[in-house]
Amino acid sequence: MGALYIFSWLCFFSLVLFKGNADLVEDKQALLDFVNNLRHSRSLNWNESSPVCNNWIGVTCNSDNSRIIAVRLPGIGLHGPIPPNTISRLSALQILSLRSNGISGNFPSDFTNLRNLSFLYLQYNNFSGPLPLDFSAWKNLTIVNLSNNRFNGSIPLSLSNLTHLQALNLANNSLSGEIPDLNFPSLQQLNLSNNNLTGSVPKSLLRFPRSVFGGNNITFESFSPETSPDVAPSSQPYVNAKKSGRLGETALLGIIIAACVLGIVAFAFLIIVCCSRRKSEDVYSRKLQKGEMSPEKVVSRSQDANNRLFFFEGCNYTFDLEDLLRASAEVLGKGTFGISYKAVLEDATTVVVKRLKEVNVGKRDFEQQMEVVGSIRHPNVVELKAYYYSKDERLMVYEHYNQGSVSSLLHGKRGEDRIPLDWDVRMKIAIGAARGIARIHMENGGKFVHGNIKSSNIFLNSQQYGCVSDLGLSTIMSPLAPPISRAAGYRAPEVTDTRKAMQPSDVYSFGVVLLELLTGKSPIHTTGGDEIVHLVRWVHSVVREEWTAEVFDIELMRYPNIEEEMVEMLQIAMTCVVRMPDQRPKMPELVKMIENVRRIDSDNRPSSGNRSESSTPPPASVSAGESQV
Ligand SMILES: *[C@@H]1O[C@H](CO)[C@@H](O)[C@H](O)[C@H]1NC(C)=O
Ligand SMILES: *[C@@H]1O[C@H](CO)[C@@H](O)[C@H](O)[C@H]1NC(C)=O
Ligand SMILES: *[C@@H]1O[C@H](CO)[C@@H](O)[C@H](O)[C@H]1NC(C)=O
Ligand SMILES: *[C@@H]1O[C@H](CO)[C@@H](O)[C@H](O)[C@H]1NC(C)=O
Ligand SMILES: *[C@@H]1O[C@H](CO)[C@@H](O)[C@H](O)[C@H]1NC(C)=O
Ligand SMILES: *[C@@H]1O[C@H](CO)[C@@H](O)[C@H](O)[C@H]1NC(C)=O
Ligand SMILES: *[C@@H]1O[C@H](CO)[C@@H](O)[C@H](O)[C@H]1NC(C)=O
Ligand SMILES: *[C@@H]1O[C@H](CO)[C@@H](O)[C@H](O)[C@H]1NC(C)=O
Ligand SMILES: *[C@@H]1O[C@H](CO)[C@@H](O)[C@H](O)[C@H]1NC(C)=O
Ligand SMILES: *[C@@H]1O[C@H](CO)[C@@H](O)[C@H](O)[C@H]1NC(C)=O
Ligand SMILES: *[C@@H]1O[C@H](CO)[C@@H](O)[C@H](O)[C@H]1NC(C)=O
Repeated sequence: MGALYIFSWLCFFSLVLFKGNADLVEDKQALLDFVNNLRHSRSLNWNESSPVCNNWIGVTCNSDNSRIIAVRLPGIGLHGPIPPNTISRLSALQILSLRSNGISGNFPSDFTNLRNLSFLYLQYNNFSGPLPLDFSAWKNLTIVNLSNNRFNGSIPLSLSNLTHLQALNLANNSLSGEIPDLNFPSLQQLNLSNNNLTGSVPKSLLRFPRSVFGGNNITFESFSPETSPDVAPSSQPYVNAKKSGRLGETALLGIIIAACVLGIVAFAFLIIVCCSRRKSEDVYSRKLQKGEMSPEKVVSRSQDANNRLFFFEGCNYTFDLEDLLRASAEVLGKGTFGISYKAVLEDATTVVVKRLKEVNVGKRDFEQQMEVVGSIRHPNVVELKAYYYSKDERLMVYEHYNQGSVSSLLHGKRGEDRIPLDWDVRMKIAIGAARGIARIHMENGGKFVHGNIKSSNIFLNSQQYGCVSDLGLSTIMSPLAPPISRAAGYRAPEVTDTRKAMQPSDVYSFGVVLLELLTGKSPIHTTGGDEIVHLVRWVHSVVREEWTAEVFDIELMRYPNIEEEMVEMLQIAMTCVVRMPDQRPKMPELVKMIENVRRIDSDNRPSSGNRSESSTPPPASVSAGESQV
């Protein structure tokens, strides 16, 4: 009897599990049917044999990975009408973004099956025909953006039924007729501009500014806030909505997040102030004065033993070791493998000199490694200009980038006078660093490992793209320092165990850098109560709780229309930091994935040489303008 009981429970549970899985299989098939029946000019990594959750670009599953709840495919060059009975089968879908494509045809009538749909972004496509007559199926619609299409016909009255609607954008279509007297209780943003609407503005919408009705044949007879009875309660939310931006849920949530971030900022600021005090001393010069590294000593030895500063080919520097040691120097940072100085030579040449501590290999191996590193010439890899090896001194001389590292740009000066790092620059940092690391991984028969990827080793070149530095040292240096240093936040789990960096562990570290760019948080930071927080774990925990928007850096909230890109980047970062090394993507794949997030300007590619900065198209307009009709 008991056994039977247990057996039936087991059956029940496996049925439940199986059902969950079956739904996901169905969802996956629906997406495959969608993409296989619609022309698209940019490739998706939607491989039938790979798991759809956490892997497929633009797809988000719910917390137990049983259903697909979001599909975001902005600007991937979809062309033609949406194939019927595909997307509409994703019955648990909450977020759909197909913006900035070339999708044509009518509004898909079968979308009424998407009962849980809350966010719909179809702007900048080539949709035509009427809007759906009956909106009442989508009880939960919160944001609807159908702007910049060719929809015609009238605005359906049934929109009134959407009690959760917060934003409605129908601008730049061919809608005609009168504006119905819609009564949206929670609407905060509206734009009906540039249509063919006639008549007058209904009372219920008089609280919106005139610009939202511009470009129509509309009269503002009674346009005066006083005449509208709803103005008193509802004008306030509009102001709030403007401030809290597109990601906004409620203003309260915003305030809570802001308070938390302010706390973190204040804490980070304190740390930075303390650290920079310590660093500002001129240690390099002091060491020289103390005789620890006296020019005479080193140079005389170098002449004896033929230990010269070795310059790589094509390097047009004219200084020698003596100049270098005489140069005024300033500590840039204390890294995993040594201290970096900024050295300004007499002729005003500025270079970065890195003094390595404990090298683990002999001169020959060191030189061999330097040869490999120095031979890599790529716009996204910081050039090693020269190196020096003697019995007790190992120096590396790099190009200097005056904007500082990504780490300092991201975490430095978080305070009042800080210039925020905008999303376009963050994208360029990501794409540049990805290209640089991919190039590094090609070296040594495709086996070369960077070994120390972190935001303080990534710099900005003149076009603001990321450039990777400090490569190839992990194999010639003593085993990595014990954890709890900042570097530990970048270390893949397998490296913590084996102490051996591999290419997949580089991918992991790169994923942490992406998370840093997205969240603005350090890979390891402490909260108020001395609790050490690992960024990767923190992001996992927030994403698991479903409200992904809370992950993102508050500084990014001010930029419009980047939510989908941020979410896609988040997904890419998450694939890099999965636990199993062999499940992480390879760098060349990552480059493609990130390039696909935004059809980013193609300058700065190795093939395109030294194009000037001015030839760069303004990145902000790229995603919006690419398929404008
Ligand atoms: C899909 O993945 C399998 C195994 O991972 C691979 O063999 C196949 O080439 C991939 N197909 C495509 C179209 O990428
Ligand atoms: C719609 O959302 C609700 C609440 O989030 C959930 O309970 C329900 O299962 C969802 N419907 C579908 C079809 O997934
Ligand atoms: C609508 O959203 C609310 C929360 O925002 C949720 O509780 C409810 O289940 C959703 N309903 C449907 C039909 O999705
Ligand atoms: C909408 O446009 C289609 C052609 O795209 C046309 O046949 C139809 O009459 C138009 N409807 C209205 C109401 O203008
Ligand atoms: C939807 O709106 C229409 C027109 O305002 C109304 O007649 C209908 O009863 C509403 N339906 C629901 C389910 O609220
Ligand atoms: C809708 O899209 C337009 C054009 O991309 C954009 O300006 C607007 O902010 C969007 N509105 C909403 C509510 O998302
Ligand atoms: C409508 O189109 C014009 C011109 O193309 C553009 O400047 C404007 O931003 C668009 N409006 C919206 C709300 O997208
Ligand atoms: C606007 O409406 C007028 C009159 O109905 C029509 O002649 C004109 O073509 C329409 N314009 C657009 C852009 O639909
Ligand atoms: C509505 O869109 C028009 C351009 O189409 C723009 O000029 C206007 O500022 C927008 N209004 C609001 C409130 O966003
Ligand atoms: C604007 O609408 C009025 C009537 O509502 C009409 O007389 C007038 O011709 C229209 N103007 C244009 C440019 O369509
Ligand atoms: C939009 O669709 C129409 C046909 O419906 C087509 O003639 C036109 O070329 C399309 N425009 C773009 C930019 O794809």
